Amino acid sequence: MSWGRHIAPGQDNRKLPEVQVVISPLHPTRNSPCLAVLQALEDGLKRADADPSVKAVTICGENGKFSAGADIRGFSSPNKQGLGLGPIVSLIERSEKPVVAAIEGIALGGGLEVTLGCHYRIAHVQARMGLPEVTIGLLPGAEGTQRLPRLIGVPAALDIITTGRHISASEALKLGLVDEVVEENTVEAAIRLANRLIGQPLGHRRLSLKPVPKLPNMEAFLTEALVKVKKRAQGCLAPELCFQAIKAATEQPFADGVRKERELFNILLTSGQAKALQYAFFAERAVEKWTTPSGASWKTASPQPIRKAAVIGLGTMGRGIVTSLVKAKIPVVALEQDLEYLNTGRKAVMLLLEREAMKMEQGGQTLDFNNPARLQFAVDFDVLRDVDLVIEAVFENMALKKEIFNKLSRICKPEAFLCTNTSALNIDEIASVTSRPQQVIGTHFFSPAHVMRLLEIIYGRHTSPTTIATAMQLAKVMKKVGVVVGNCFGFVGNRMMFPYVQQAVFLLEEGSRPEDVDQVLEDFGFKIGPFRMSDLAGLDVGWRSRKDQGLTGPTLAPGTSARQRHGYRYSPLPDLLCEKGRFGQKTGKGWYQYEKAGGRTAKPDPWIHSFLSEYRDTHQIKTRFIDQEEILERCLFTLINEGFDILAEGIASGPEHLDVVYINGYGWPKHRGGPMFYASTVGLPNILAKLQKYSEIHPDVPQLRPSAFLKKLVAMGNPPLNDWMSYLHRQSNKL
Ligand code: NAI
Repeated sequence: MSWGRHIAPGQDNRKLPEVQVVISPLHPTRNSPCLAVLQALEDGLKRADADPSVKAVTICGENGKFSAGADIRGFSSPNKQGLGLGPIVSLIERSEKPVVAAIEGIALGGGLEVTLGCHYRIAHVQARMGLPEVTIGLLPGAEGTQRLPRLIGVPAALDIITTGRHISASEALKLGLVDEVVEENTVEAAIRLANRLIGQPLGHRRLSLKPVPKLPNMEAFLTEALVKVKKRAQGCLAPELCFQAIKAATEQPFADGVRKERELFNILLTSGQAKALQYAFFAERAVEKWTTPSGASWKTASPQPIRKAAVIGLGTMGRGIVTSLVKAKIPVVALEQDLEYLNTGRKAVMLLLEREAMKMEQGGQTLDFNNPARLQFAVDFDVLRDVDLVIEAVFENMALKKEIFNKLSRICKPEAFLCTNTSALNIDEIASVTSRPQQVIGTHFFSPAHVMRLLEIIYGRHTSPTTIATAMQLAKVMKKVGVVVGNCFGFVGNRMMFPYVQQAVFLLEEGSRPEDVDQVLEDFGFKIGPFRMSDLAGLDVGWRSRKDQGLTGPTLAPGTSARQRHGYRYSPLPDLLCEKGRFGQKTGKGWYQYEKAGGRTAKPDPWIHSFLSEYRDTHQIKTRFIDQEEILERCLFTLINEGFDILAEGIASGPEHLDVVYINGYGWPKHRGGPMFYASTVGLPNILAKLQKYSEIHPDVPQLRPSAFLKKLVAMGNPPLNDWMSYLHRQSNKL
């Protein structure tokens, strides 16, 4: 990596003798301002400054990318040389020679902060810009929180910095973030501008010297903005500290604001949240490199192209899946059981697509869905003859799924892949009725399927590596996060959710109210607590599944104890609610009451309170006060405990998989890094001790009994999360 004092490739040096073009050979892969680049940037600027033949400077990136920002791995190890980007941005700004940024490709994070030091900014029409530091638990720490509000005003700067969103060149131009947008060669345009600027005054272009544009009601605006930022942040510190840094820009001179920015940056850097968010960032990349216990892996398996897909069943899930496929530009056939269902499904899909098209239009994109070659509706399975992949999303019923897969196996071309969107059913059993079990796979989408990023990809005993690779590729094309997991009841996500929800219900039996439990988990950072979630999803879904399993309903053996099944504790509370028609939001009543059927505002329900107290009386349960600590520990530690069993069974190849599933599919707070990362921060010996304690109090709840793998890791000295899997088959003397 070196710095050049040369004109950009393709530039004619002789025609522009007075312009020094600084080519920034930034990070080898992402053009990040790593240490070598910072040093080179500083040297280049100083040399340009000292050389009287250089009259102006242009800064650009190599290979059509300005800069993707600081390499976030670097933040965990402070820069020993003391070379920071902030002082270099100031150095750029102080230059007596005009400096023009030529922004091509992307200018993110530290990269965009570099451009804020430049006196002028020119962007290519396709360039994208942003300050995404907040998404990894930090703030733009190279004076960006002080310069951006001075350039584009407080409201726009707050929006960009506290959300971390990327903006297009046209939006940047509207906001005044860039001075010009060009369609041709950006570097040439920047050189032309730099030439025109030679000898012109620069004082008014130095952002650190400018005041922050005033708002007539700045104080009121900031108060309101803080409320919004905090609400969105749900316990994540970074957005609020970004806000504080920008507020400092409105109240203090530039140098003091920079000091404040540094102070806030250091708080974030050492808060633990930045570490969790950075872990989550890398975990998402790690799960792309899937492996299975039989040795199949992303390295050797190649995906097959999907030129046309089909979705069977246009209910809650199918509608979202079709929408996602259309958005991914994969031609799709949507199939229902009869014309009536088809018409309902078609209307729902079209509505979703219209809304998506509107959203995309705002970002300057289009969505073509009125073309039958792109989207076709049908009731006849014959139209599936030429599709490359089918996603089945019919009712959660094994007999029905088997009937459909048997039909698909006979109708679809031999090389077509058959996917099932089951929540928990056995993939092998579904595959067993086909003549191609190697091409059968579970693709578990999350509701709403066109919004939620998670795609759990479940391989069965016979699923081929090619099929897994194809499903992973599909996830990528649909802009989802695919996580490859093994086949077991509930797979990873729902299997871990089961003991969590079970504990929540047990807590109600013992003395809590639904709103108490939800509040504790929402304060922890979950988007919604287990009871609000259950009301949203519909209590009838679980009821049907428990009836199918013979846990409740007419098949339950007479004389079965109300609160025991197979010798273990069971709570009939959710069943009792369903028997009273309380299915949640859809019926206007569930664990909460709603303004009407389909209402969304959950209000604590006095009926539930007296129902619970009668229930406790009937079963002679002494109501006790349950504190927040117990609620949190019993719900979270059983979920984590199940995670250790999943790892030990080889259902997932590492803790990151479980964490990515929980962050992207179950509303786990990202700033806590996922359940297994959280466990590592709490300390495995602490989790083990608490599980042992609760298990002694509740010996009839197997989910509270510590997992053997958890015990082993504690016996092995509580190794760091990255090493857990290497201990799976190691002997421990202490066990
Ligand atoms: P749903 O009840 O909303 O829709 C199922 C659709 O399948 C209905 O429109 C029905 O007409 C159609 N269908 C039934 N038999 C058919 C046949 N023979 N041919 C064509 N279409 C047929 O169900 P939902 O909620 O969309 O669930 C579908 C699957 O997705 C289930 O296996 C469920 O467990 C799973 N799932 C559901 C989630 C949810 O939040 N609802 C989340 C993740 C997975």
